[in-house]
Amino acid sequence: MTTILATYRLSKEYTTFQGTLSAIEDVSFAVDQGEFLCIVGPSGCGKTTLLRLLGGLLTPDRGEVHLHGEPISGPRREIGIVFQKANLMPWRTVFDNILLPLQVQHVPSGEARERARRVLEMVDLVEFADSYPRELSGGMEQRVAIARALAHAPEILLLDEPFGALDALTRERLNLELLQVWEASRKTVVMVTHDIREAVLLSDRVLVISQRPGRVAAIVPITLPRPRSPSMFYGEACSSLARGIREAIR
Ligand SMILES: Nc1ncnc2c1ncn2[C@@H]1O[C@H](COP(=O)(O)OP(=O)(O)O)[C@@H](O)[C@H]1O
Ligand SMILES: [Mg+2]
Repeated sequence: MTTILATYRLSKEYTTFQGTLSAIEDVSFAVDQGEFLCIVGPSGCGKTTLLRLLGGLLTPDRGEVHLHGEPISGPRREIGIVFQKANLMPWRTVFDNILLPLQVQHVPSGEARERARRVLEMVDLVEFADSYPRELSGGMEQRVAIARALAHAPEILLLDEPFGALDALTRERLNLELLQVWEASRKTVVMVTHDIREAVLLSDRVLVISQRPGRVAAIVPITLPRPRSPSMFYGEACSSLARGIREAIR
């Protein structure tokens, strides 16, 4: 296994009116190329902070993030990020929302349009290319956000509770869709979720973060076979892995 992304004793503090707040402390772990890694932990334990550090959107106070063995010091083209909220431009169509970052990067128009079409196919939204965000459901908006991130052909996709605001059934469906995209594209995926069973169903390993200040409480390998299916979700193997993770959080 080749390490693609790694953190070394990463710490991040915020300055607040109450003083210094330590969000994460001494977090070290490595992500393998092509791996699907989920990060779980209680609310406020520093998951979003950690993901933003991985994406180069925040600078650590101590420690380093390495991409392909080299320290990063800011956002990188190899890393695509999807936030909790889709943040689509309301006055642009789905297609043009996906094109926007490619235009900013001066990708030639023909190639940009070709890439946008391809990623729309991946998330199964081709027939909504000309729709506006207000015409989409929350789940569809998140799929557009994922397509937009995939359009750069990033090696690594970072997802911060991308389906957090959706109902359970939609979530389950989108999780399976995300698995299909992952299996077809073989990207490295790091996804934050507060849903332990979701983490078990999707990942190769689960990184468990403790109460704030967030530290690595456990790294749990998920031994379920692939491809994963919804029926596994309700099986005993899945339940016992979820139990193990729940205990590690405490
Ligand atoms: N910009 C900020 N300024 C001050 N405190 C922050 C900021 N962002 C996050 N925090 C605090 O840091 C802690 C971790 O936040 P976050 O990374 O968002 O956790 P999680 O995503 O696990 O819920 C929380 O206590 C939060 O209130
Ligand atoms: Mg968060």
